[in-house]
Amino acid sequence: MNNNNSKNAFKQAQEVIPGGVNSPVRAFKSVGIDPIFVKKAKGTTIWDIDGNEYTDFVASWGPLILGHAHDDVLKAVAEAAANGTSYGAPTQIETEMAEQIVKMVPSVEKVRMVNSGTEATMSAIRLARGYTKRELIIKFAGCYHGHGDSFLIKAGSGAITLGLPDSPGVTKSTAKDTLTADYNNLDSVCQLFDKHPEQIAAVIVEPVAGNMGVVPPAEGFLQGLKELTEKHGALLIFDEVITGFRLAKGGAQEYFGVMPDLTTMGKIIGGGLPVGAYGGRKEIMDILAPIGPVYQAGTLSGNPLAMAAGLTALKKLDETPNAYEDLEKKAAFVEAGFRLNAEELGLNVVLNRVGSMMTAFFTEAKQVTSFDEAMTSDTGKYAEYFKNAVENGLYIAPSQFECLFISMAHTEEDLEKLIKGNRKALEAIK
Ligand SMILES: Cc1ncc(COP(=O)(O)O)c(C=O)c1O
Repeated sequence: MNNNNSKNAFKQAQEVIPGGVNSPVRAFKSVGIDPIFVKKAKGTTIWDIDGNEYTDFVASWGPLILGHAHDDVLKAVAEAAANGTSYGAPTQIETEMAEQIVKMVPSVEKVRMVNSGTEATMSAIRLARGYTKRELIIKFAGCYHGHGDSFLIKAGSGAITLGLPDSPGVTKSTAKDTLTADYNNLDSVCQLFDKHPEQIAAVIVEPVAGNMGVVPPAEGFLQGLKELTEKHGALLIFDEVITGFRLAKGGAQEYFGVMPDLTTMGKIIGGGLPVGAYGGRKEIMDILAPIGPVYQAGTLSGNPLAMAAGLTALKKLDETPNAYEDLEKKAAFVEAGFRLNAEELGLNVVLNRVGSMMTAFFTEAKQVTSFDEAMTSDTGKYAEYFKNAVENGLYIAPSQFECLFISMAHTEEDLEKLIKGNRKALEAIK
């Protein structure tokens, strides 16, 4: 595979951009090859600047559940752009967007738009602290909630991929307000509540962990968090930046039937443009400025282009019959293919899947239900697997600790290509 143009582009980028990228995992550092520079994409296909073609299962790290450059989304953005790109004043489409979110996400009665998942989670914990008048938060080791200071404590995603779960630059006083519990371990949460009575404002959790690879919540874990937070007067925040609109119209809360107090959203909600949101019960949301004292603002929040793209995507998901059943069928087909490949080749791979998000962990462990078990993965093996997958025309996450995403645009042919490519890549690392 010729990738000289990408190599040169990366060299050039590194002169003026730290590490040559605007988000660390894009550098492919943990898989030991230079990143692919993208020229364009449509549907499920990505073309790089060397003319190589890949079938995409990264979906821009989750947002593109409709596939790349979806015609309806492009049309909505073009129409919005023709009327101006930003006003810094209210527009009706923001209300329409909020109504659509309230309709789809069961626990959300009011919602505030922001520009990224990071902004959503940072704002949600400020709101939780303002509402409860408490300062501590609990997060789970291996969960990632964006790059806000409070969350870069035992963080997942690129932070673990690069071995940087606790970032320099986060002050000690900020770090001490974040308590860390173990995912799928309610006792670890109980202990923190007991140790810090009436001081914990919120528990924030990925209802399906996606940033240490996919780790589903154990039976009763989410419900247990709901009961513990209620008992101790803290808020439960579901970070649905990945799971929102992916597992069901109403995200993980609908899928598992557990209602959080606050929900953070991102990725799919923007239809491929930079959007985030946080929402919840009215009485909590109504302490935000301008009606309440908790301040949060944004020059470009509710941007008309972003709202046009996001609203189009959400409506499409809401109005397509059997959208989530179809995603489930496609993903189950891939899971079955992957399992058969591993079994026939005698390889121990743990495959975790919830709906259209999945991860194959290269580990000798029997299961991956926790951060510690995820960490038993052989990342060197994953890197070899990744290189082979790329050679076979598959674009998958350049890290063991991320998800593979199935989109509505994937065809049977795409999925068969994925299973065949998986087979070849597994054979190569056997
Ligand atoms: C669960 C979760 N929360 C928050 C974020 C941060 O979102 P963003 O990258 O849009 O700031 C991410 C990003 O991957 C995420 O996966």
